[in-house]
Amino acid sequence: MARMTVFGTGYLGATHAACMAELGHDVLGVDVDSSKLAKLEAGVVPFYEPGLEAVLQRNLSAGRLRFTSSYEEAAAFADIHFLGVGTPQKKGEFAADLRYVDAVIEQLAPLITGPAVIFGKSTVPVGTAQRLGERARSISPAGEELELAWNPEFLREGFAVQDTLHPDRLVVGVDRCGPGRGEVVAREVYAALLAEDIPFLVTDLATAELVKTSANAFLATKISFINAISEVCEAAGADVTVLADAIGHDARIGRRFLNAGIGFGGGCLPKDIRAFMARAGELGADQALTFLREVDNINMRRRTRMVELAREACGSLLGARVAVLGAAFKPDSDDVRDSPALNVAGQIQLQGAAVTVYDPKAMENSQAIFPTLSYAENALAACAGADVVLVLTEWPEFRKLQPEDLDGVVRSKVLIDGRNCLDPEQWRNCGWTYRGLGRP
Ligand code: UDX
Repeated sequence: MARMTVFGTGYLGATHAACMAELGHDVLGVDVDSSKLAKLEAGVVPFYEPGLEAVLQRNLSAGRLRFTSSYEEAAAFADIHFLGVGTPQKKGEFAADLRYVDAVIEQLAPLITGPAVIFGKSTVPVGTAQRLGERARSISPAGEELELAWNPEFLREGFAVQDTLHPDRLVVGVDRCGPGRGEVVAREVYAALLAEDIPFLVTDLATAELVKTSANAFLATKISFINAISEVCEAAGADVTVLADAIGHDARIGRRFLNAGIGFGGGCLPKDIRAFMARAGELGADQALTFLREVDNINMRRRTRMVELAREACGSLLGARVAVLGAAFKPDSDDVRDSPALNVAGQIQLQGAAVTVYDPKAMENSQAIFPTLSYAENALAACAGADVVLVLTEWPEFRKLQPEDLDGVVRSKVLIDGRNCLDPEQWRNCGWTYRGLGRP
């Protein structure tokens, strides 16, 4: 078993650290945020991710997992380092903000004195790994013995543990000019996964970086494709959900990621397609990705459409009471970064309605960024006296809602299903006005 560090203890880093310990490795998680470290050390995951807390606690107790804020300790502890810090969108620009990635290299590399491999996992613009490798070698006493490899991460929030321990594939980009230990070390670290015949692809650095951004760009495009078709369905009186089932049977198309609704959000897809466009422009290939601007536009238009539907339902938003079920960017997550649900709730409130939000897990995070919205303790309380109910995140508890549950609670029996996750017939049969996106 190997010893390794993981820099960054957000969704990506905390999951990677805990899961590497689960594989039997000795892992030291590193972060500059002492409040996060204190929680993790106490066995508490600072965000909602099903199954992760159990893995964390098991490996803390087994002594295979520890946390620190000390770079000196980290450099002395291991010669395998993973880098999983955030790469948010720059304020007022499309490009990725690489300050956290750069900061780890600037502080860690000077402390590395012998042969070592740093595996980048964060989503970065192509060319970053090459640049970081050169910089790290130039400021490290280890010099050419310090290798930088890129090992992109494809985990989905809500399935982070499963995706880390049973990924669809492993990709490792290695520096073809370096000492070439990246592949050998990755094979050691992931031996248990390779034994399960998980596909293992070794590439150059640029390809590994591009694999990640292309995968996210493809997923975003697939969602915007079906949302564009959904606009046509609305205009033509067709049903996009039936259409998606029908085209999804073609194995070349596939049904997954064809759910039309209020679109994609979260900490990855929106910022990643923008950073991808920005980077392509810098490389002189800007024409290649202009379609991603349209993917982004289609996606943002879904939010506006949802606000319009709410307005139509209420006559006017001024003075209307709107119940919003769901604030997280998707179910099984408490993440509200660029959440379509919260964005719609905010827009409706700003246009004069009284909006009450309920989400099973994302209340605290929502209150932190949108303190002016009202928040209810449960779905029924959110719907009390509502002129319209908006379902904006398809949590299982909202999918299970029955018309009878809300009948005596709302002021008007009007429901708009922003995720096409409820049965229109059932609600209409009980006297409700049901509207889905892209459905007649
Ligand atoms: C995504 C990628 O899936 C993952 O591989 C990558 O590592 C990180 O980015 P994540 O952000 O966790 O993962 O969420 P994902 O499940 O991809 O959903 C993204 C958004 O798309 C959500 O807002 C979701 O509601 C929306 N979505 C997804 C749709 O609107 N329709 C769909 O059919 C699928």
